[in-house]
Amino acid sequence: MPQNDKIKKRISDLIDQIRTHDYNYYILAESKISDYEYDLLYQELKQLETEYPEFIKPDSPTQRVGSDLTKDFPSVQHTTPMLSLSNSYDEQDLYDFDKRIKNMLKTSDEIEYVAELKIDGVSLSIKYENGFFSKAATRGDGFFGEEVTNNVKTIKSIPLKVNSKNHKIPATFEVRGEVYMEIEEFKKFNEIRAIEGLKLFANPRNSSAGTLKLQDPKQVAKRPLDIFVYYLLSEERKFDSQFSNLEYLKEIGFKINPHSKLCKNIDEVIEFCRYWNKGRAKLPYETDGIVVKVNKINLQEKLGNIAKSPRWAIAYKFAAQKTITKLLDITWQVGRTGAVTPVAELEPVLLAGSTISRATLHNRDEIQRKDVRIGDSVYLEKGGDVIPKIVEVELSKRPADSKPTEMPQKCPVCGNKLFFPENEVAVYCVNIECPAQIKGQIEHFASRGAMDIEGLGKSLVDLFVDMKFLNSYTDIYFLKNIRNKLITLERFGEKSIDNLLNAIEKSKERTFDKVLFALGIRFVGAGVAKKLANEFKDIDVIKKTSVDKFEQVNEIGPSIAKSLVSFFSNSKNNENIEKLKQVGLNFKIEASKKENNIFSGFTFVLTGTLAKFTREEAKQIIEDLGGKVTSSVSAKTTYVLAGENAGSKLDKAKNLGVQILNEEQFIKRLG
Ligand code: IVH
Repeated sequence: MPQNDKIKKRISDLIDQIRTHDYNYYILAESKISDYEYDLLYQELKQLETEYPEFIKPDSPTQRVGSDLTKDFPSVQHTTPMLSLSNSYDEQDLYDFDKRIKNMLKTSDEIEYVAELKIDGVSLSIKYENGFFSKAATRGDGFFGEEVTNNVKTIKSIPLKVNSKNHKIPATFEVRGEVYMEIEEFKKFNEIRAIEGLKLFANPRNSSAGTLKLQDPKQVAKRPLDIFVYYLLSEERKFDSQFSNLEYLKEIGFKINPHSKLCKNIDEVIEFCRYWNKGRAKLPYETDGIVVKVNKINLQEKLGNIAKSPRWAIAYKFAAQKTITKLLDITWQVGRTGAVTPVAELEPVLLAGSTISRATLHNRDEIQRKDVRIGDSVYLEKGGDVIPKIVEVELSKRPADSKPTEMPQKCPVCGNKLFFPENEVAVYCVNIECPAQIKGQIEHFASRGAMDIEGLGKSLVDLFVDMKFLNSYTDIYFLKNIRNKLITLERFGEKSIDNLLNAIEKSKERTFDKVLFALGIRFVGAGVAKKLANEFKDIDVIKKTSVDKFEQVNEIGPSIAKSLVSFFSNSKNNENIEKLKQVGLNFKIEASKKENNIFSGFTFVLTGTLAKFTREEAKQIIEDLGGKVTSSVSAKTTYVLAGENAGSKLDKAKNLGVQILNEEQFIKRLG
């Protein structure tokens, strides 16, 4: 053999050997050689490639980490959109899903499903050409993602060349999967960041997402990214089933999750969900549910997709997660109403995807009932988006010298003596000049559901109150008079101050119900404010309304009624309202709005999941246009607005002959 061919052959052998060792180590987690032996092979390859660069092959392990920095990540269109999944939260939802599938397929035969762990990471698409890794892209908005090829190449469990021995490989194919970090790896990684004084990542998912977007692949290579692949797409190959696809992916060299299960019917799926609901705590990575997929690809094709998700799959979300941590301290927080509530300061702990270091203890009764003491080990629970809560104390771990916490007698912010009303668990600071209350009120006033003043968030409110630029929410509209002072503040430039002042001016357009909500009247949430605005139409009418009259309004009970009367009997509140009126806020339902009542007299029932709106948003739109939204379908219903996975309400509407609108038709009506 000529010398050059010998070298080429040796390079090829080394690549094959290293690939096999990588596969054993990164995918099967069983190394067959020592690190030293592995390093010798790698060094020999590297040496040969330096001497003979013309023989460098694209699938060489030395090519995982390129030296070029990525300046930007080009946008790429996904050949097939990367869909998301509809969610389900309990077993009944899964039975309904199964029933829908059978109905749509017009069959009563059992449907086979594949149940897979839903890995809490970042989804990724990877394309292969002639068996070689070619391109990788993030999900993005599902249609366009960002190309992150160079970074993804560094993930060792992704084959640069698939194993074609005994397998026919399509000339082009795409795999999709979830990039994740193991919990322990993530913790170690964050610890190092802490030592280096860098910002910590909240959870493994954020950390994976951030890593995929680093500009330097060398840095990516240092981070513990991994992947589970769960989806195969190729135009050339006709697939039989999801489960056989997973097996095929495994055989040609991909890392697939070992816990996926082929289930004969939905009952087996439910059993799997029950098992992992508990079992997931022992997994080294985070999962937030189970993905249930119809196994047979021909059935998947028959079922097809709706706008954003396939009809043939559903995500079952796990219920609350639990963990244990230490209660370091109990602090007291003063809210906008003056209520003083205890807050648990916790040793930071990872729970359901985020690091928790504080949790509310609600009130003094709660502390007593649960007998929570500083130094205790406490169980924390969190479900979905719910705020974490302390559910129980682990008494066996209680320090011998622990004592019950005592209630403070003075406001922790202004030092005023606290008020303990009889028959109430709440405790109040009644000093209306207490900075904590003022801050809370202004923050509420400017918040999303209220005046929605962009940029005026907690930190800015705190600063402006501390600097005495704001003493009440009415002062917001006079900030423009001190623009010169504001622009000299260290953190801000002219531009950001002008943006803020513009946002403040814009907030004057908010409708009456938002203004009413922004006032922060006790018990008057966004819904009640809307009700009051629609019913009374003008603040001057509301001001004169008695407790009895308020109570005659549907949904307004005695506490709200009393609170309203008490609010409007306070002269300070009325002064504030007058000031706000003068600067131009809406204290009436505008005439123009009344005219745009295209849904006046119409009653809607919402069902299923809409793609473009949440239920709340759709309800708001209908009500803004004069319509009513009720919860059950009857002969009086004008329209049922049916989103995806609509259930019994849709059937009822059909039976009663009520008109059904889909989302698209609804949007058309809106013009
Ligand atoms: S299948 C159309 N399988 O969950 C198929 N997704 O809300 C959709 N995910 O964006 C994806 N583990 O990021 C699938 N075993 C799994 C998954 C999984 C995690 C993520 C994925 C997707 C999201 C769906």
